[in-house]
Amino acid sequence: MLYGVFSDVHSNLEALEAVLAYFDDIGVEGYLFCGDLVGYGPDPVACVERVRALKNLTAIVGNHDLAVLGRLELDWFNQYARAAVLWTQMQLDASCRGFLEGLTARLETKQFTLAHGTPRNPPEEYLLSAGQFRDNVAHVRVWPLFVGHSHMPLMFRFSDAERRQVDAQFLEEREEVLPRESDGRFAPAALNAGSVGQPRDQDRRAACALYDSDKGTFRVLRLPYDVAAVQAKIRAAGLPEYLALRLDYGQ
Ligand SMILES: [Fe+2]
Repeated sequence: MLYGVFSDVHSNLEALEAVLAYFDDIGVEGYLFCGDLVGYGPDPVACVERVRALKNLTAIVGNHDLAVLGRLELDWFNQYARAAVLWTQMQLDASCRGFLEGLTARLETKQFTLAHGTPRNPPEEYLLSAGQFRDNVAHVRVWPLFVGHSHMPLMFRFSDAERRQVDAQFLEEREEVLPRESDGRFAPAALNAGSVGQPRDQDRRAACALYDSDKGTFRVLRLPYDVAAVQAKIRAAGLPEYLALRLDYGQ
C-alpha cells in the first residue's frame, strides 16, 4: 500500500495544498500524519478541515495541538510559539477542537507505529540522536516508526545485525529501503518526513514522504509553494513577524 506521510503542517495551508496535490497526483492510498496540524501559521481551521476530510487517514496530535487544546503547559514554548498557540485557540471552533481532541500523540497499528516526538515521550522529546533511537527501541512493538516534531527529514536504524551501531541519516530526495528481519518483518527504523509547514533544515520547500509498505521503501520529497502568500497572511493576522521571516530561510 502506498501512503503519503506528512507532519508538522502548522496551519500552513499553501504548503499543505502543495503536498496533498502531489499525493493526489501520485495516487496514494492512505495518509499518515505525525502531528502538529496547528500552531505558528495563519490557517488553522482550513488545515484541520482539509486533513480531517482525507480518506484512510491515520493521524496523531503534536505538542502544539495539545497546547491549543489546553493539555500542555505553555511554559514549554518560546514567546513566538506561545503567541501563536493563544491566537489559534481563538480561531478554532468546537468542531475543529473535537477532531484534535479525538487524537492521541502516539498510535500503534498492526502495520506501524506513529509518535509525534518519540515513543517514550510522544509530545515532548525530539528524536535527534543515535542514543535516543537506541533508548526508544524498547518502547516500540511494531516497526516502522514514523515521527515528526524536529521538522527535519531523518532516518535512524541499526547498521549491523547485532544492533551495536546506529545509522542516523539526514534524508535527501531519494528512495530508502527499510531494513527487515530474517522473517520478513520490518526491523527497527524511525522515519521523519520533515515538516510541511515550517521546515528547519535551511530548505524552505515543504517536506513530505511516500511510504510503500509492500516494497518497504520510504522517499522524502520537497515541494515549492507560495511562501509570500503565507507570510502576508501571518502579518495580516497579527502573528509575530519572526514566524513569517523564518519561512524564507527554512528555519
Ligand atoms: Fe512541530
